Amino acid sequence: MTGRSLPETTIDPLLRSEIDKLASTFASVDDAETAALDGDIAAPLHGDERWTAFCDLVSSTVQSRGYIVVRGLPADEGRSLLIVSRALGTTFGTYGAGRIVKRFRMSPWADGLSHTLKAGDFHTDGNVSRIPPVGTAMQCEIEDPGAPEYAEQRVAYLPEILERLASGSPDEVAAFEFLTKSEAAMASETAPGVWRGRLVQDGKIRYHPQSLRVAAKRLEQQAQDVEPVIAAIHRASMDVSLPFHTSPGDTVLVSNTFALHYRGECSVRFTKFPTEFESRSLLVLHMNDQGANE
Ligand SMILES: [Fe+2]
Repeated sequence: MTGRSLPETTIDPLLRSEIDKLASTFASVDDAETAALDGDIAAPLHGDERWTAFCDLVSSTVQSRGYIVVRGLPADEGRSLLIVSRALGTTFGTYGAGRIVKRFRMSPWADGLSHTLKAGDFHTDGNVSRIPPVGTAMQCEIEDPGAPEYAEQRVAYLPEILERLASGSPDEVAAFEFLTKSEAAMASETAPGVWRGRLVQDGKIRYHPQSLRVAAKRLEQQAQDVEPVIAAIHRASMDVSLPFHTSPGDTVLVSNTFALHYRGECSVRFTKFPTEFESRSLLVLHMNDQGANE
């Protein structure tokens, strides 16, 4: 949205050193994940007024803008990511056997949405889950070798997307109606079944263009052709969002219920074709609830 600044903060140096100290008590990311699941990984920071102020800022900014970019953290394989994510929510989402942090490294040889070099779509995570996570935390581990031309990131805030669509062209108004009034269908490429429901409900959104396309194919129909809707939502989301980039350690804390997130095309630099290359690496985790703000 023009005229507005990026919601970002640089972590206070004294808080950063407390986070570093806490992170260094975990011999590995596995240990940090265990601590995050067994109790409150950020407990040693309670009572620290800088931590309280940081949590307040994250909470109010995510509420009013949909996300916040936190700069000045170390790229430490996910330890600091686990700690600062406690400002976003209380309960960590897990996969596999008690794992929390996922690493996505972009590859010229991958087609999967998380690893491909192609530009992504504005979306929410876990969009066909029974209950999607409420928050996504993404920490840059290795910057895109072609940045800043490549790997642009954006977050679009739902109320602004809806306002923009509702007051737009007939295509955009149709997309608004589709989001807020139609029963849509979404499905995952990797799982059977189809999720059905309203994409925007009670001020919350679940949305992924690819999931709409997969469901349309699986059902051999869709309430309306989804492509004009997807195009209108993309346009509106671009219009209401700001481009930004992240350096190693920088962390984006984003609502997964009232914001859509996006990253642009990524690049690759081969050091030994075709097997060795430099590319963007990203650490991602999910929070299942908004939690208390300590
Ligand atoms: Fe995502």
